[in-house]
Order: sequence, then C-alpha cells, then structure tokens
Amino acid sequence: MDIIEARNLKKSFGPVTAVDDVSLCVKKGEIFGFLGQNGAGKTTTIRMLTGVLIPDAGIVRICGVDILRDPLEAKMHMGIIPENGTVYADLTAEKNILWTAKCYGMDRRSREEKAKEILARLGLESRKDDLVRTFSKGMRQRISIACAIVHSPPVLFLDEPTTGLDVLSRRLVIDTVRHMNREGSTVLITTHNLEEANALCSRVSVIHRGKIIGTDSPEKIRKQFDTAGYIEVSFDRSVQGSMLVTGSISRAEPHGDKWRVYSDDTDWAIKALTRVAEQNNLKILSVATSTPSLEQAFIEMTEEA
Ligand SMILES: Nc1ncnc2c1ncn2[C@@H]1O[C@H](COP(=O)(O)OP(=O)(O)OP(=O)(O)O)[C@@H](O)[C@H]1O
Ligand SMILES: [Mg+2]
Repeated sequence: MDIIEARNLKKSFGPVTAVDDVSLCVKKGEIFGFLGQNGAGKTTTIRMLTGVLIPDAGIVRICGVDILRDPLEAKMHMGIIPENGTVYADLTAEKNILWTAKCYGMDRRSREEKAKEILARLGLESRKDDLVRTFSKGMRQRISIACAIVHSPPVLFLDEPTTGLDVLSRRLVIDTVRHMNREGSTVLITTHNLEEANALCSRVSVIHRGKIIGTDSPEKIRKQFDTAGYIEVSFDRSVQGSMLVTGSISRAEPHGDKWRVYSDDTDWAIKALTRVAEQNNLKILSVATSTPSLEQAFIEMTEEA
C-alpha cells in the first residue's frame, strides 16, 4: 500500500511556479528521499503533503486519507519536522514533548514514559527542565524532532533535518530516523545532501525547478551516469593530450601530474592507453578508474533537465 500518495501537485506563487506536476508514491516501510537544490520546490511539496499549504491542483493521500477532505485524520497519522522548527521557546524541553503528546490524545503514563525515552535517545536528558529559549539551534532541532515522534507516527516528514547541525547532532538525528523506521514509520526526508540520502534512503526523487526529473535508488541514479567515468593515468615522461585521444577516448585533460581520460568503455580505453604507451616507449606509472560520485550524477541530472 502507498502510505504517501501525491498526484499531479501544482503550486504557484504569483509568477513563480514552485511545484509543477509532482507525483510520488511512498510505500510502507520506506525511507524516501526528496532531493533538490535550494529553491527546487522541496519545502513547498512537503507543505502540501502535510496539509499546511493548499495545492492549486492535485491530490494527496496519507495512509489512504485525503488530506484536503479529512485534514485532521490525515494529520493524526503524521509527525512533521518542518524546515524551521516550531517549538515553544517558553516551555521546558520536557514540557514541549508532554504538551505535544497530550494534543495527540496520549494518556498521562504513556506521555511521561515516551518523553523520558525520547529525551534520552536525543541526548537531552540533562537539559529536560531548561527552557527551550536557552537552547542552541541543534538542541532546538532535536526538540522539534522529539515532538514529531512522540506519538509514534506511521508517517514521518522531515524537511532538511540535519542542515546546520554538528556531527554529533547530525548522527543523533540520523539514528533517530533509522530507529523510527525500524519501529514501523514510513519516512519522507528532504535534503540537498547526497551522501545523507545515499546512507538513509531506499529510493529518492530528484526535484529540479518544481519538476521531478528522476526517481530511483541512489545506486541506480549513480549508475545511470556510469558513462561519465574516467581513467587517471600517469607516465614517466610528459605527453601530449592529443596522443591519448583515440577510439572511444573522447577527451584527455591534465590533472596535476596525471591525465584524466574520458571514455564510455573503460576496458577498451585501458587497452588503448597500454598500446599508446608501448608505441611511444612510455612507462605507465599509475592507472586508476573512477565511477562518478552521486554528486556528479546529481549535477549532470540537473544540468540536463
Ligand atoms: N510563500 C511563498 N511566497 C512566494 N514564493 C515562494 C513561497 N514559498 C516558496 N516560494 C518560491 O517557490 C520556490 C520553491 O521554494 P521551496 O521553499 O519549496 O524550495 P526548497 O527546495 O525547499 O529550497 P531550500 O533548499 O532552499 O529549502 C522558490 O522559488 C521560492 O522562492
Ligand atoms: Mg526548503
């Protein structure tokens, strides 16, 4: 079953089309990534998925519930960590969590147990009685996450939850996302950090200028761009780049004391380089192949679109 289902979402702000015909389906148990550069339309999409913003067109169903028709019921299924956290600065860390739990109708005992567990999980136990206004950005973000997960929501939306966090806070957030997923939550997370998406997500959609330009596993997205691989080779003497451009080797660029040669057929290119070396009495000092990083794939995808 699709836990998150969005069809043909559109949203414009005056002349700006922020989201242009976005559809996505997230299956039960997935951690789904929504990847895009600044201004791509990630937050606008998440706001429509979570019923904060009414779309100009399209439908959203959360656990089968239409968000426009039954917003309250749909919202009971979700936990939301918005781009700019919404915690009460004048309440303590613990009171923020207890209050949110109350809003979700949890009984007193479960509220208290859950708050204790989550404060420990997010490394905030020792600060539980401090007002949130005295907290750093990373600590506030963790409270925002604590409030979003207190009712063990079947669906969790996180809008760039690790942006601006240090290594430790980032790790706590990522571990919490994984934990929630293991406990049964389906997760949709936006990020512009490719390595984060790679480490967490089973599938990602790449959004660019309001449109989805690709949906696949991070590994398959990387593989789509295998042809952009290169071979780095160095010789014992200096050579002309033109000597290396032959057959399937389309170009050669100097890189420090090495040459980077680009080819869509690595096997052929290595054999050709060996022949060139033999014919010119050159000694190959090093040779290394490189598959493109996810980052390269992402840049190529958005440049092509
Ligand atoms: N309330 C608004 N009023 C006017 N324009 C808006 C509004 N919200 C978003 N936009 C525009 O919609 C586009 C998409 O913005 P959005 O916030 O969805 O991007 P994003 O992918 O979340 O970017 P970022 O990575 O910077 O958070 C941008 O051009 C933005 O200026
Ligand atoms: Mg955003």
